[in-house]
Amino acid sequence: MSASAIFILDLKGKVLICRNYMGNMDMNEIDHFMPILMKREEEAEATPLVTHGSSHFMWIKHSNLYLVAMTKKNANASLVYSFLYKIVQIFKEYFKELEEESIRDNFVTVYELMDEVMDFGFPQTTDSKILQEYITQQGHKLEIGGPRPPATVTNAVSWRSEGIKYRKNEVFMDVIESVNLLVNASGSVLRSEIVGNIKLRVMLSGMPELRLGLNDKVLFEITGREKSKTVELEDVKFHQCVRLSRFDNDRTISFIPPDGESELMSYRLNTSVKPLIWIESVIEKFSHSRVEIKVKARSNFKTRSTANNVSILVPVPSDADSPKFKTSTGSAKWVPEKSVVQWNIKSFPGGKEYVMRAHFSLPSVDGEELEAKRPITVNFEIPYFTVSGIQVRYLKIIEKSGYQALPWVRYITQSGDYQLRTN
Ligand SMILES: *[C@@H]1O[C@H](CO)[C@@H](O)[C@H](O)[C@H]1NC(C)=O
Ligand SMILES: *[C@@H]1O[C@H](CO)[C@@H](O)[C@H](O)[C@H]1NC(C)=O
Ligand SMILES: *[C@@H]1O[C@H](CO)[C@@H](O)[C@H](O)[C@H]1NC(C)=O
Repeated sequence: MSASAIFILDLKGKVLICRNYMGNMDMNEIDHFMPILMKREEEAEATPLVTHGSSHFMWIKHSNLYLVAMTKKNANASLVYSFLYKIVQIFKEYFKELEEESIRDNFVTVYELMDEVMDFGFPQTTDSKILQEYITQQGHKLEIGGPRPPATVTNAVSWRSEGIKYRKNEVFMDVIESVNLLVNASGSVLRSEIVGNIKLRVMLSGMPELRLGLNDKVLFEITGREKSKTVELEDVKFHQCVRLSRFDNDRTISFIPPDGESELMSYRLNTSVKPLIWIESVIEKFSHSRVEIKVKARSNFKTRSTANNVSILVPVPSDADSPKFKTSTGSAKWVPEKSVVQWNIKSFPGGKEYVMRAHFSLPSVDGEELEAKRPITVNFEIPYFTVSGIQVRYLKIIEKSGYQALPWVRYITQSGDYQLRTN
């Protein structure tokens, strides 16, 4: 059928709520609907189809509301009308009565319902039993007496207070992935794991409703959108604000966020990742005289990414002294209190290889207590990059006052517990 947009108007033709499904028509066209309809009614020839230029409006009236589908040419009229009646029926099941007041009182739920019943202009599930499971938020039914909703929306939100106001409405989202890696002395990866965190800094007025879309593999399988790159998340944990039933049903991450900073979710992936920074080392100890160290570091990621603040910590015997260093890039220093050489590389682009050599003297007297072999550890951070490939597809922000809010998303991959054993 493909309706480009659905509007719910009051008797004067003012838009109470609307959903733009296809983005292919000018939403302001709706302003022409009521004047044309009035004129037709005066001329006593009201028709269920109103046309303005190439915009077609198919409408029905229910109590003090108009439900209007805006379409381009060639829409299947019988499908559109039966869809409009279906919406009325669904809303009545949610809110008992469908009228202006119930739309105003249940703005977010209505918005969500309108989202669920249509996808890119094509009707989706309109079975209200299934929708009721998807959209867990309790509607405020207009009735007095009878079963009442257990709690109003605002009372249920213990993590956010009412009346929050910001002059500029913004959300900052950080997707942070930490890589844990353990490589044995012969270069086999014994453990590799990605731990992801999504952090929020929310500066939004009122009671905003947020919806986060990720390229989550399970979600894409449910909806049959398999073509893009997806990520299989494991061990997903959410902040209490996220509606878990909704996630379990259809993988939608919807929530009213806490004000300020919070951690929205964490996840884990134990798929084998290519070690982002690979180290090869030769540490030769000539007792009573010296230690010779050669470390090669290679960046195993695309050349368009760059690791920042890389530091490679190479163990040296605790009785070593008189260090000498040579590096192909960055700088090396001895940190005697930790018995390591610290090699710092401020900026390490992808596809590069650098070398560091170090030379230490050892005392001629035997201090030969057996030192445990310590691993090389590496610290780094790679901005604008997630090693899992996870991406935010959208972050929708809806608040009933209708303000525009800006979502900002940043990605970073960093070292977690990142160790390579040495011989
Ligand atoms: C319009 O939709 C109805 C219901 O699905 C269908 O029976 C009819 O064939 C469709 N008409 C056209 C012209 O596609
Ligand atoms: C490293 O792990 C591989 C595979 O498990 C094993 O074959 C090899 O012997 C290990 N090397 C050392 C030095 O432990
Ligand atoms: C990831 O962990 C699960 C459960 O611990 C395990 O069954 C699976 O084999 C692991 N996958 C990989 C690639 O290590």
